[in-house]
Amino acid sequence: MMQDKHYQGKLIVLMGATGGIGQALAKRLAESGATLLLVARNVQRLALLQRTLPGQHHCCATDLTSAEGRAKIFSMIPPRQPLDSVIFTAGVNEFRWLEEQSPDTVSQLMMTNLTSVILLTQLILPAVKAHKAQLVYIGSTYGVIGYPGFSTYCASKFGLRGFAQALGRELGNEGVVVKYVAPRATDTSLNDAAIRQLLQQTGSHLDSPETVAQQVMLALRAKRNEWFIGWPEKLFVWLNQLFPSLVSRAIRKQWSTIRHCAETPRVV
Ligand SMILES: NC(=O)c1ccc[n+]([C@@H]2O[C@H](COP(=O)([O-])OP(=O)(O)OC[C@H]3O[C@@H](n4cnc5c(N)ncnc54)[C@H](OP(=O)(O)O)[C@@H]3O)[C@@H](O)[C@H]2O)c1
Repeated sequence: MMQDKHYQGKLIVLMGATGGIGQALAKRLAESGATLLLVARNVQRLALLQRTLPGQHHCCATDLTSAEGRAKIFSMIPPRQPLDSVIFTAGVNEFRWLEEQSPDTVSQLMMTNLTSVILLTQLILPAVKAHKAQLVYIGSTYGVIGYPGFSTYCASKFGLRGFAQALGRELGNEGVVVKYVAPRATDTSLNDAAIRQLLQQTGSHLDSPETVAQQVMLALRAKRNEWFIGWPEKLFVWLNQLFPSLVSRAIRKQWSTIRHCAETPRVV
């Protein structure tokens, strides 16, 4: 991949940098010439990633869900280096019927995928406004389509989409662009054996993290605020908004398969 003049000397904050999608995106952004602030909890994985990337980058090993963690991320954004984008890629998933999810799991998922993202955005907003940087939220097709077994995950991603849309309109006159990028199923460790079984049995496509990273690179430079990845998911997104009962009917046909996969025992 070629260096891109646009990114020379600019900083991009990448949350969830060590994940499947995060790593593929970090590689692309680093190759384009951006300086990265790589954020995730696991310090060894961050250091390993940093070593494999071309260029000089910063690491911030911290937990997004704690106030101290968010303050640490904010403190590591250098005030003078031009800030191009903040990309929120960190996330967790849970595939179980709601009555089988523990209250702690529900709270933790909402905290990681939504609440802490909102709180961190609030904290860094002065820097984002000062640099007219863009905010990019990695959502999901499940941020538009409610799917059985993913009620909590869907709630977090629907919430994220609403947040991004409203914030984009709030900041529209201040030169800050807000984007929501929605991948479909992607081949990363976010998807456990039960989800993989479901994807296989429903004939769903699994994108590579590199394909998603390539799409995010396009979304970063595009004018569109919402960017959905993959056919026929894009069609289902559109259908679900206009004719949700049609999508409900299609999902009802898969119900037993989904229920069976959601009941698969997991190794904790
Ligand atoms: N994979 C898919 O099928 C798929 C489909 C649609 C959308 N997405 C979305 O794409 C994003 C990336 O997913 P992925 O597949 O790349 O997931 P992944 O491989 O599991 O990576 C998740 C990343 O988030 C970090 N993270 C998790 N909790 C954190 C916390 N509390 N504080 C700081 N960092 C945290 C992880 O690092 P540490 O564990 O070291 O903290 C890791 O870097 C997520 O928002 C996901 O919802 C994924």
